[in-house]
Amino acid sequence: MMRDHHRLASLATRRLVSRNGPLHTEAGQLSIEGLPSQEIVQRLGTPVLVYSSARLRDNIEQAVDAARACPFPIRIHYALKACYLAGVVGLMREAGLNVEVMSEFEYLLSRRVGFAPDQVVVNGPAKRPEFLERAVSDGVALINVESLAEVAFLDALGQRLGKAVQVGLRINPLPSRHLRGPFAPPGSKFGFDVPTGEAAAAVRRIIRARGLSLRGVHCHSYTRRYSPEAHRAHVASVVRFVRQVEGTLGVRIPVLDLGGGFGSRSIMEADGGPLRSFIAEMSDPLVGLSGDREIVIEPGRYLVNDAAVCLTTVLSCKVNGGRRWVVVDAGRNILPPRKNAEYAVVPCEPRPGRTRYHVGDFLCMPSEPIPLSFVSGPIEPGDHLAVFNAGAYTFSMAQSFGEPIPSAILVDKTDWTWLYRKKSIEEQWRGLSGQT
Ligand SMILES: Cc1ncc(COP(=O)(O)O)c(C=O)c1O
Repeated sequence: MMRDHHRLASLATRRLVSRNGPLHTEAGQLSIEGLPSQEIVQRLGTPVLVYSSARLRDNIEQAVDAARACPFPIRIHYALKACYLAGVVGLMREAGLNVEVMSEFEYLLSRRVGFAPDQVVVNGPAKRPEFLERAVSDGVALINVESLAEVAFLDALGQRLGKAVQVGLRINPLPSRHLRGPFAPPGSKFGFDVPTGEAAAAVRRIIRARGLSLRGVHCHSYTRRYSPEAHRAHVASVVRFVRQVEGTLGVRIPVLDLGGGFGSRSIMEADGGPLRSFIAEMSDPLVGLSGDREIVIEPGRYLVNDAAVCLTTVLSCKVNGGRRWVVVDAGRNILPPRKNAEYAVVPCEPRPGRTRYHVGDFLCMPSEPIPLSFVSGPIEPGDHLAVFNAGAYTFSMAQSFGEPIPSAILVDKTDWTWLYRKKSIEEQWRGLSGQT
């Protein structure tokens, strides 16, 4: 398996555009569902974030099929944090997916898109009391608790309302030294550590509470994992905890919420295989668990990342210290620099030539939003480039830095609709000068 994620992202992107799918190169030009990138750029300028509805629907279908193929019932809760754009989230809802939120803001957005409260899983290392009250009175599907203070608050709330609030317990089981992810290292701000006995103590606290009912355990420990074995080890560690507390404390925990953490679909398929094979691997440790169980997964990146490209214009080409640069007009305002980003850059109109350029943004910051990215040329100022894998954690993490957050559109069979319109300078100014 290739270890270098950047090379893998480039390889997967080359494969994606060479196929006759929604994002592909046709007559020497990148097109999105048959809509030439040049047309989009001429009409809307750059940078612009372009989602393909066909790819989004296909990603959803792959996830639903993979879940159906599993012997255990799986509920898919789309992790809203991956992309907030209503036109994108609406496709998830139309396809029957549920949703996962990490704040009241996200919860209210999900309700505006049309999700019912019982389709919502609530996560977050610290939740506002008003939000918890709202979530309980609306009747959300599950609230995963992450501290004893939250346990105490919900217990008191349940007693006051005369009902048992259904909670899940977020745990950090430490699957193995090698699989330790950034989301659940020992001593993290998330959930309860298993090895120290804190998670088992929290279970005892919940089962004593008159205002609570323990419905699930939750564990999200990494993102962008391309090895099915890692997912299997993750599930095995959750199952170990469930068996242990069920055996020693006489409880039954019907829901296992396994979080997100799958990679981008195109990269997954270029490397570890289709989602179906990951789910099959994950279901293995579940075999032998007694009684009916419901499995929850919370994918974000898998569903949206490879369904969008950011179209950008080359502002300048230069050579510094022998290094060739192309400097583009998309920056961290829409492509946040993240270690786990998987941006891959391709010219919208590829020309023969193997000159490699570093890709940098127009901002006065030393770090690049497209770290270690290259594009093969020849490239000239005015050329348009497409940054692939721009669908997840871009718009939701976008910021007006240097330039406003750019527009985003959804293409559907050569037609397009707005997802987000870039604010005019007047709108920006009203906000920045404290006017309404
Ligand atoms: C609790 C939780 N669930 C799901 C996700 C989605 O993860 P991914 O996009 O890697 O699938 C995240 C991402 O941070 C998360 O924190």
